Amino acid sequence: MLQMRGITKRFPGVLASDHVNFDVRAGEVHTLLGENGAGKSTLMKILYGLYQQDEGEILLHGKPVKLTSPSHAISQGIGMIHQHFMLVPTLTVAENVALGLKSTRGPLCDLKTVSARITELSKTFGLHVFPDEYIWQLSVGERQRVEIIKALYRDASILILDEPTAVLTPSEVDDIFKIFRRLANDGRGLVFISHKLKEVLELSDRITVLRHGRVTGHTTPAESDRHDLAQLMVGREVKLAPDAHDIKPGKPLLVIDKLSVDGDRGRHAVQGLSLEVKSGEILGIAGISGNGQRELAEAIAGLRTPQAGTITLDGHNTTACKPRQVREKGLSYVPEERMKDGAVGEFDIKENLILLNHNKAPFCSRGFLNFAKITEHCRRLVKEYAVKTPSLETTTSNLSGGNIQKLIMARELDAGPKVLVASQPTRGVDIGAAEYIHKRIAAQRERGTASIVISEDLDEVMALSDRIAVMFDGKIMGIIPRKEATRESIGLLMTGEQQHEEGLRR
Ligand SMILES: Nc1ncnc2c1ncn2[C@@H]1O[C@H](COP(=O)(O)OP(=O)(O)OP(=O)(O)O)[C@@H](O)[C@H]1O
Ligand SMILES: [Mg+2]
Repeated sequence: MLQMRGITKRFPGVLASDHVNFDVRAGEVHTLLGENGAGKSTLMKILYGLYQQDEGEILLHGKPVKLTSPSHAISQGIGMIHQHFMLVPTLTVAENVALGLKSTRGPLCDLKTVSARITELSKTFGLHVFPDEYIWQLSVGERQRVEIIKALYRDASILILDEPTAVLTPSEVDDIFKIFRRLANDGRGLVFISHKLKEVLELSDRITVLRHGRVTGHTTPAESDRHDLAQLMVGREVKLAPDAHDIKPGKPLLVIDKLSVDGDRGRHAVQGLSLEVKSGEILGIAGISGNGQRELAEAIAGLRTPQAGTITLDGHNTTACKPRQVREKGLSYVPEERMKDGAVGEFDIKENLILLNHNKAPFCSRGFLNFAKITEHCRRLVKEYAVKTPSLETTTSNLSGGNIQKLIMARELDAGPKVLVASQPTRGVDIGAAEYIHKRIAAQRERGTASIVISEDLDEVMALSDRIAVMFDGKIMGIIPRKEATRESIGLLMTGEQQHEEGLRR
């Protein structure tokens, strides 16, 4: 169906694609695998008409094409689900899906038809998307489903899936994989990008590995296991889970008592929730997204005012504090939406790294910024956290997805927090970097930080946590010590079918 030949793309200081050859056959899932910044999204954005290649050609069904814009690519039957959402928050689901559709150009007159088809698609594929809800009301997971519906709606014959599963729960991934498979069996060609090797092995027909913008290998799930893939993409052995430590937790640093928080839809997103995290301890919060995790994290961070209950951070009542005041009491916060809440896209790397302490010594004295100190500090963080960037002055939104996440982790962990709240800390991060981030979070134990790790990735929660709390419908269904936790016991709590009585008393 598609051939990309000798594709080269340069950005200032970066060779993002270096004579890449890539093809897609009808009926297959072809996976692009590679570290953060390897050039996967760039290659796919060229295919989708968002970027133009500097060299090389693209052939569709054997004929050379110049893809000049996404609408042009769509008219050629190419659809893309982006890594970062391209939805308009102030429009409804139906309006977003209708955007750019030929039939609805001009007044959005047949929105009813669009809504009906969305409902139909969402039923067929079990995607649970409601046409009349506004995008800003939706969780990340729900927004992703809208993106998928949008692509399915356009009935693309080549479908580019740039980390579509990063925000889905394990059972949603199972469902969506069945859909992807059905779409491929139907004669479509799918390009799949994921950092989760298990998924890559499950879904792919062929795998192409990219490193530093170059194709460095081809393989298939029959020929490679997880360790082979890790080795192929990183070029060294990768430990897939950090060593478990025994810890001696100290005094409680974060105490949440009967907390209720409203969500954007106005109802109680968090309902009378209580929990405690001690110094040196990591509490994992598992659960399907949309069950109040985001609202809980935002309330702790001072971004959302609770309706009832208290939050106590290191002995201070921070329930009604502003974000900056909570930070001054010792909170570090890694939000689930890195581009919206974690970094300022238009700022450069340096500015984002000192965003929270630019007004303090040693970066500032008597009202003047100390550029030498700032540069030294930022250079160290970029190096330590392996943020791949051509310079410290690079605009943050130009970094690859995983590298933006590493940048935020660097800033938040380096602040030496008393309490850390990290939502989906390794979403979209390659396995080499995930290994590093896990190590750094685990190291917070020795520093005496009380950490909360919110994640939909059960493997991540199980690998990192000392205790695992499961959230469902705004409440904690149970808290299980890691040693007693199994995927099954947590999975049961996640669906709200069972409460862990013993866990609740603990
Ligand atoms: N618009 C842009 N301007 C400048 N540099 C860019 C731009 N887009 C991408 N880059 C650079 O090109 C390189 C490849 O980025 P790309 O987003 O394709 O990586 P990726 O493989 O998708 O990584 P990830 O797994 O983190 O999403 C990176 O070094 C990135 O900083
Ligand atoms: Mg990418």
